[in-house]
Amino acid sequence: MLPIDSEQQKINSLSSATRVDYEEEIHRLRKQMNAVILAHYYQDDEIQDLADYVGDSLELARRAADTKADVIVFCGVRFMAEGAKLLNPEKLVLIPDMKAGCSLEDSCPPEAFKAFKEQHPDHLVVTYINCSAAVKALSDIIVTSSNAEAIIRQLPHDQKIIFAPDKYLGAYLNKKTGRDMLLWNGTCMVHERFSETELVKLKTRHPEAIVIAHPECPEHLLAYAQHIGSTSSLIQYSAEHAGSSFIVLTEPGIMHEMKKRSPNSIFYDVPGMSGGACISCNACPYMKLNTLEKIYKAMVSHSPSIELSPELMVRARKPLERMLEMSRAIGRN
Ligand code: 13P
Ligand code: SF4
Repeated sequence: MLPIDSEQQKINSLSSATRVDYEEEIHRLRKQMNAVILAHYYQDDEIQDLADYVGDSLELARRAADTKADVIVFCGVRFMAEGAKLLNPEKLVLIPDMKAGCSLEDSCPPEAFKAFKEQHPDHLVVTYINCSAAVKALSDIIVTSSNAEAIIRQLPHDQKIIFAPDKYLGAYLNKKTGRDMLLWNGTCMVHERFSETELVKLKTRHPEAIVIAHPECPEHLLAYAQHIGSTSSLIQYSAEHAGSSFIVLTEPGIMHEMKKRSPNSIFYDVPGMSGGACISCNACPYMKLNTLEKIYKAMVSHSPSIELSPELMVRARKPLERMLEMSRAIGRN
């Protein structure tokens, strides 16, 4: 059951001095709307704590595909919410802030990617899920950081492949699989900015600490890591080594779940670099746009919601469903 107009009137009548218990209101609306709240591990702690499911990109796509809820509230970034819409075209998919983009998505404009693809007609297009629906529609198979290696290994070794948009993840996968995939020149602004100098300082101060890294990091940073994997994989690894200390080369929001699973471990985050100065730019500016207030307002007003043309959805859903099938076949979720 969806909220009625009086809900919107209630918001309108709130003076700026009125305190709203957003958590309580979100719980109430969730029941009333039969909504499910999905959150990525990079969300603020309070959003992760209130979500029905917290996960990595693949787990959240799987949750979105399987949900019986009428409404999906996606607390992550836009490409993730678009993925949920592609798998549930008839459902209302809300995102607290439509400006929650992704630098990888921005680095791969669909028209330029189409032209690139046309220059290599004999290549299969394997695309990281961090891209727009329009780029998904130009792809043969979508992958996430947790299933990319296993899916690529299933493809014939002589099959030529374009991998987009993350050149660092692509280079890591080339090294792991012995492939020579043609790489699109995109990067994640968070993972490419970690300061190697600060990482070395941390490692010198805490030589016992285990370095764990997301594969969106450049190769020179991955070289320090004892474990490389998706957000879920990094969390699982830290839980398996509970009581240790870790230097974490990914967005610091992940530490909330890590600390929950292994409260006796110590976690160090690595500062980023920008313009030669070391700054705290290791938080994803897009993920951090979501707030409890925006979630509440989105649920009341049914907006912003993900809207895609039916024709685009048909084309973009295909490679996403292919990923889910191939991923299931190899026992990943
Ligand atoms: P995961 O699929 O590992 O959760 O990564 C998503 C992401 O955006 C990393 O920057
Ligand atoms: Fe995109 Fe990087 Fe933010 Fe992940 S951390 S959503 S890849 S900008």
